[in-house]
Amino acid sequence: MAELYGAITGWGAYAPPHVVTNHDLEATLDTSDEWIVQRTGIRQRHIAGADETTSTMAVKASISALAKANLPSGELDLILIATSSPDYFTPPVSSLVQAALNAHNTPAMTIVTGCTGFVYALVTADQFIRTGAYRNILVVGVELLSRFVNWQDRATSVLFGDAAGAVIVQATDRPCGVQGFVLGSDGSNYQHIIMPSGGSARPFGADVLAEGSHYLLMNGREVFKFATRIFGSASNQALSKAGMTIADVDWIIPHQANLRIIQAASKDMGVPMERFIINIDRYANTSAASIPLALAENIDCGRIKPTDTLLLVSFGAGMTWSAAVVQMQPIA
Ligand SMILES: CC(C)(COP(=O)(O)OP(=O)(O)OC[C@H]1O[C@@H](n2cnc3c(N)ncnc32)[C@H](O)[C@@H]1OP(=O)(O)O)[C@@H](O)C(=O)NCCC(=O)NCCS
Repeated sequence: MAELYGAITGWGAYAPPHVVTNHDLEATLDTSDEWIVQRTGIRQRHIAGADETTSTMAVKASISALAKANLPSGELDLILIATSSPDYFTPPVSSLVQAALNAHNTPAMTIVTGCTGFVYALVTADQFIRTGAYRNILVVGVELLSRFVNWQDRATSVLFGDAAGAVIVQATDRPCGVQGFVLGSDGSNYQHIIMPSGGSARPFGADVLAEGSHYLLMNGREVFKFATRIFGSASNQALSKAGMTIADVDWIIPHQANLRIIQAASKDMGVPMERFIINIDRYANTSAASIPLALAENIDCGRIKPTDTLLLVSFGAGMTWSAAVVQMQPIA
């Protein structure tokens, strides 16, 4: 059998129309536009409307990606949804997306690795393509974290936004796709990003509601240190697996958690900020959606060419990390 590669033939993104600026937050929180911009680079975030859920946002991004790839949803062989903020604990949000897309009986699964979920899912899709098991795969990163943060907690609520991004991965015998990757997890530090209650460790109850311990909690300083430490090493490992150096990469698409983390990575790796794709100012941290959202937007505006070599780098809850060198389409 000829060697198979996963070409990314379609891409799409969705962000809810409702925008909340830092100035808007000043009305309800002891915070300021100046603090948020200086510490994070965030100026505004998109927040889902009452009629929206994680699955409805995922479906919108998926429909755009399917249209771009000119692929009917009925031809999908697999659906992978990366999210930590599903519609329900059970059933899996991936099945809701599968039903809404009319992708009849297509296997669907949810990948829950926090902000690294999209890269984990893309690498998983690439493996299914390379083995010849599946030919057409939908990969979505989607997050509706505005329903899981405590809007009274200024340390977390200002940081996140809602969005979805999707790609279609299709088998081809021409070299492209994921050229090298690294996935990692250090569960010994799981407590740094956590929703302490509502799961089996501490089921939901009146006490949980009273404490508000079902909301997302984060040890921002520890996460910051972890992210700046892991960024360069994960990037180098993925590049070395691809047999490349950073000089071979056209664009770095980092997870958009904090502009200062990206600036530190730029300095550490000796790569100018102009080669990093940044949209945290407009969307805040959209967790698993941040990379596919940045990818889709920048291809659509012509900044990224699908034949460019991309380095995707992410880090998040777990703690987990992931990096992948990707050339979406074969050079004609
Ligand atoms: C969260 C983060 C922006 C906080 O920035 P920081 O410089 O570490 O700030 P600190 O947490 O040390 O807080 C400094 C002060 O600002 C205050 N503060 C926190 N949030 C604030 C806000 N929204 N507005 C105003 N002040 C705020 C704190 O209460 C603290 O006050 P104190 O000194 O009186 O106690 C930063 O740690 C970060 O981005 N970490 C990484 C987060 C991340 O990447 N998460 C996602 C992973 S996928």
